Amino acid sequence: MAGRIPQQFIDDLLNRVDIVEVIDSRVPLKKKGKEYTACCPFHSEKTPSFTVSQNKQFYHCFGCKANGSAIGFLMEYEHMSFPDAIEELARSQGIEVPYEGGQRPDPALKKAQTDLYELMADANQFYQTQLRQHADAEIAIRYLKERGLSGEVAKDFGIGYAPDGWDNLLKALGTTKEREKGLVTAGMLIKKDNGKCYDRFRDRIMFPIRDRRGRCIAFGGRILPKDTPNDKDAKYLNSPETPLFHKGRELYGLYEARQALRDIPRLMVVEGYMDVVALAQFGVRNAVATLGTATTPDHLQRLFQLTSEVVFCFDGDRAGKDAAWRALQTCLPEMRDGRETRFMFLPDGEDPDSYIRKIGKEAFESEVKQSQTFSEYLFKQLTEEADISGIGGRAKLVETARPMLSQMPEGIYRKLMFEQLEKLGRVELSTSTSAPQTNRRSRAFRQAAKKSSASMTPVRKAITYLLHQPTVAKAWHDTGRNSEILKTLDLPGMDLLLEVLEILRINPNLSTSALIERWRETPSGSHLAKLASEQPELEDDAALEVEFIATMDALLKQSVDHRYDDLQAKLDHSTLNETEMAEYKMLLQQLYAAKSASKSD
Ligand code: UTP
Ligand code: MN
Repeated sequence: MAGRIPQQFIDDLLNRVDIVEVIDSRVPLKKKGKEYTACCPFHSEKTPSFTVSQNKQFYHCFGCKANGSAIGFLMEYEHMSFPDAIEELARSQGIEVPYEGGQRPDPALKKAQTDLYELMADANQFYQTQLRQHADAEIAIRYLKERGLSGEVAKDFGIGYAPDGWDNLLKALGTTKEREKGLVTAGMLIKKDNGKCYDRFRDRIMFPIRDRRGRCIAFGGRILPKDTPNDKDAKYLNSPETPLFHKGRELYGLYEARQALRDIPRLMVVEGYMDVVALAQFGVRNAVATLGTATTPDHLQRLFQLTSEVVFCFDGDRAGKDAAWRALQTCLPEMRDGRETRFMFLPDGEDPDSYIRKIGKEAFESEVKQSQTFSEYLFKQLTEEADISGIGGRAKLVETARPMLSQMPEGIYRKLMFEQLEKLGRVELSTSTSAPQTNRRSRAFRQAAKKSSASMTPVRKAITYLLHQPTVAKAWHDTGRNSEILKTLDLPGMDLLLEVLEILRINPNLSTSALIERWRETPSGSHLAKLASEQPELEDDAALEVEFIATMDALLKQSVDHRYDDLQAKLDHSTLNETEMAEYKMLLQQLYAAKSASKSD
């Protein structure tokens, strides 16, 4: 097993590398004021909204909200794992990565891994060539034509053909033992017990699945109609999970949609490969398909990075309705203000492919636009299940809906949903019961992430200052003030503020990005990243320091007052123990000192 990379090493590494150099060598940057910009490599755009800050060592896109450190950039852009990204940065600095209690991963193994992309590209090329040249490809071409596909769309989607036979791909691409091994890892070959390999995909139409950079990472293969159908063969065969392909994360057609469209006002989620391709054939270029799985939170996050409206398109049958309800549940935590999801149900027996052929593009698109919104669908479904003309039904409605709505992020949308529930249930729900059932910290952060700076809480302000200029922590610690008492103040985000302060006390020279790295892949991490991406109101570093200390002092005063009131209340009713009494006296002194200080001002 590979050992852990020490945090200290990661901090030092991020201190040595310059994110501007790391990104500039891959995506050429232009200097603009204090920062560097480019057209975002993670979504298609014509005017640059991708920004790199040398000070913060942090990148951020105002368009698609991608952000992170140099490590994060390599992981996203080069599709590297976390340790690989660190290895890459260390290599650029000519230093070795230490691994705690283990060895570094075998470099030969890693080399083989990076080559998987090449092998997949070769396979993609191979299948496309077969569709044009193989003697048997005629049946495949005829089938695609019968389904109404033009050569142009087939080319856009890179559709190919895997000829019949056990070793076409093996012979063409598995020219060395290493390549053969790679093809097994990539899911293209299957290894038998006796060590021999054979092609996974045989006599199928091949749909390459591409990642966000357009690299082929997997395939879906559709069987061709046969004179003597074999029931054992599944209609669609998909690549297995591989180091490159995780079906819970990828969406078929997303790359193609981004290529075809400049702005993406909405994305449609359909079920099948052929649905995506057929819709594209009719000029509907914004459809994507999950790959034989239900929609995951990862899928939704990816979709909402690119658009503000997601339309789920399902069959009208029982299975379709169940799938839609499941999708709605997954959407709940993603329903922030400004986002919308819709649910479109097709007539029985139709899928998007057959339906658009029947009614044409215009009618199809207008049905999409008129499909049920999130709230319409949710309340329609729940009031169908419960008869709300009686008390029992209304109680059931509230009982089912409340925990669902509680999963929605705080905001107007959520508020209106609760109001609607109160109307339908004819009850008043106290705000405490409608509060989200999430832990304190994530709720704190949603509050902290509220845009308007006027409504910025002191805790959020303090965190934002720390992120913008981590050295203010040292200035604070240098004042000798004791932050201990802040713990007693139960404010949203306080835990995190103290955590950030403590990390910076031990590592005073961390950059913004190195700091945020500590919360990699956690909700706090993405909230911190959001705060770090915001334009600071105070350009002057000295002003920022003064402001930070003033904010902290205000919090300190609040906690002293608060704690004093607590102890005083206790003292009024009973007695204080020895430590409490000592604390009480100390607080009293502090309050007295503060009062006389303000008098002498
Ligand atoms: P459908 O059976 O609805 O296929 O499966 P389809 O898209 O309408 O295909 P055509 O029109 O007959 O060509 C929908 C999706 O479910 C997955 C595939 O992702 C498919 O696109 N599926 C289906 C499988 O993975 N395996 C199967 O055997 C069938
Ligand atoms: Mn179909």
